[in-house]
Amino acid sequence: MNQHPHTTPVLLTGAAGFIGSHVAQRLLARGQPVIGLDNFDPFYPRSHKQANLNAVAETARSRGQPFDFVEGDLCDAPKLAHLFALHRPGSVIHLAAKAGVRPSIEDPAGYVRANVLGTSILFEAARAAGCARIVMASSSSVYGNAPTAPFVEDMPLSDPVSPYAATKRACELLAATHHHLTRMPVASLRFFTVYGPRQRPDLAIASFLRKIADGTPLRLFGDGSSSRDYTYIDDIVSGVLAALDRVDHFGLRVWNLGNSTPITLSEMVETLARVVGRTPSIERAPMQPGDVERTWADLTRSRAELGYTPATSFEDGVRSQWSWMQSAGHR
Ligand SMILES: NC(=O)c1ccc[n+]([C@@H]2O[C@H](COP(=O)([O-])OP(=O)(O)OC[C@H]3O[C@@H](n4cnc5c(N)ncnc54)[C@H](O)[C@@H]3O)[C@@H](O)[C@H]2O)c1
Repeated sequence: MNQHPHTTPVLLTGAAGFIGSHVAQRLLARGQPVIGLDNFDPFYPRSHKQANLNAVAETARSRGQPFDFVEGDLCDAPKLAHLFALHRPGSVIHLAAKAGVRPSIEDPAGYVRANVLGTSILFEAARAAGCARIVMASSSSVYGNAPTAPFVEDMPLSDPVSPYAATKRACELLAATHHHLTRMPVASLRFFTVYGPRQRPDLAIASFLRKIADGTPLRLFGDGSSSRDYTYIDDIVSGVLAALDRVDHFGLRVWNLGNSTPITLSEMVETLARVVGRTPSIERAPMQPGDVERTWADLTRSRAELGYTPATSFEDGVRSQWSWMQSAGHR
């Protein structure tokens, strides 16, 4: 079976989502077959995800590469076994999850089912099929309100402050166990707030851009000093593919994929207002339960081991997201 990380078919979970659809396009562009799995979780409209898949299908067509898409749930073990048997993927890139911090407080069991049970079922299907490696999305949220920053991969983790963060940490622990028992290489990638074209509509940049353009007031939580290490989608995708290509040398590894340039909420809103060309009106509200004060990635390890070099400035990235939103009619 062809299992080389550059050429083997990839089973990509969450392929219809924001990050998944971009990863699919990059894999296809470098000549790698992709089998996408997604259950169109209703967290945001199916029409957005269908449009993401249309973009992937267009890349597949123009590159002459196979892209198979299957609608299905991670927790459907027989379907996963069938997918592995049919396509013999040598690698899994696992991005499917119920994402979002605040909604996880309303539905902790739903998050545990999709993220923890789903990941466990996927790992077992990959093992049974003799798959060679897994690269999986974790999150900066596992650092919680860590007392020191920037956040380093091997720092002791403070307690997760949302069910979402707890599920992502649980997946990292399952990855460690899976690697211990099978020796299969597994990478956990801690993404730091990802933005850019096709960003999930619930995330702050997408929703604030729409509101500024419409003249709807922005509701800001806290005094504006909280900060996020916003990371542009193209930089994240480069990190995901570098992890796919290099995880075999490490066995079990956690890598931060961030930008290492935290932006305060106030700076974020100023940049968005400049890009849209309108002054927003602002309502203040207290910090929300489950939210953290700041995120900030230390990139020493991912730079050294993955050659990861995020290259997109925040303002440039916001401009590309805004032009995409306008052309896609999302404003
Ligand atoms: N976007 C970010 O800023 C960010 C930050 C940290 C981590 N992450 C992680 O990166 C991954 C991708 O995030 P995204 O922003 O692209 O989110 P997304 O919601 O756009 O994509 C996730 C996809 O997974 C699918 N999915 C959910 N549950 C499923 C299930 N049980 N079976 C099959 N498919 C299922 C959804 O339908 C969706 O299309 C997620 O694991 C998320 O937790 C994202």
